[in-house]
Amino acid sequence: MHIRILGSGAGGGFPQWNCNCRNCAGLRDGTVRATARTQSSIAVSGDGERWVLFNASPDVLAQLRSFPALHSARELRDTAIEAIVLIDGQIDHTTGLYMLREHRKPWPLWCTAPVKEDLSAGNPLFGLLAHYCKLDWNEVPTDASAFEIARVRGLAFSALPLISNAPPYSPHRDHPRAGDNIGVTVTDGASGRKLFYAPGLGEMEPAVWAAMQAADCVLVDGTFWTDDEMIALGASPKRAVQMGHLAQSGPGGMIEWLDRLPAGTRKVLIHINNTNPILDEDSAERALLTAHGIEVAHDGMEIAL
Ligand code: MLT
Ligand code: MN
Ligand code: ZN
Repeated sequence: MHIRILGSGAGGGFPQWNCNCRNCAGLRDGTVRATARTQSSIAVSGDGERWVLFNASPDVLAQLRSFPALHSARELRDTAIEAIVLIDGQIDHTTGLYMLREHRKPWPLWCTAPVKEDLSAGNPLFGLLAHYCKLDWNEVPTDASAFEIARVRGLAFSALPLISNAPPYSPHRDHPRAGDNIGVTVTDGASGRKLFYAPGLGEMEPAVWAAMQAADCVLVDGTFWTDDEMIALGASPKRAVQMGHLAQSGPGGMIEWLDRLPAGTRKVLIHINNTNPILDEDSAERALLTAHGIEVAHDGMEIAL
């Protein structure tokens, strides 16, 4: 299985256009050693030729330019992306669909029923794109049953509903339904190796923990270091958990969970918010992750499973 990190940042990216936090300002003026990150997306392939795009980031066009494997040139208008899977209906995971409207046929789009509902009402993507390439909806089952994606050879997929949150524009914000957010296991049919991908994970429920323990690589929520990160900065009145993200530090935090995974599991944080001190490569927080064998995803990172 080939995994390419297209965008390792959370909503807003890094640096965020209007942000003057220590990280964003420090990246701009060169006083913080860090790398810019685009918004949340990965591409996965079984054969290196036919790819699934997970999430359509607002930065998708730059991400596609940065990864030539996604450019097929079999005909005048072409792509190596066979299908798009959405983890949720958030702006940072869906806005890129507007940018992909020149596709020559309806996009095979995989998402849950609650996400489709939000993308038909509060954010009317389905109706709008009906005037362009159209979206061909395939329902992602949330009962952990396996599904396959046509023309994507050698990979099987299964999804779990996560306790996270619905998008701010959704009528279900703060009252999320099962399927507003999912984590996905991708299994390589030939090797049996598994990726678990969950960029927005608010709480470690038993089924999620089981999926993480079964995976060879976990690519999970790295949004915030502390639960009160945005409050302490004065950037938002919300705790990380209210936004659907489990912070890394502290009791019950992501680091403690990752420490309990089997020794051979590759542990990678993704969807990193621009305020998170782990983005500073010289920070104590980053050193702590390294000491725990936890990696921080960056744009262009490749993982072979
Ligand atoms: C989130 O995951 O909470 C989002 O990135 C927030 C946003 O896009 O504004
Ligand atoms: Mn997000
Ligand atoms: Zn910032």
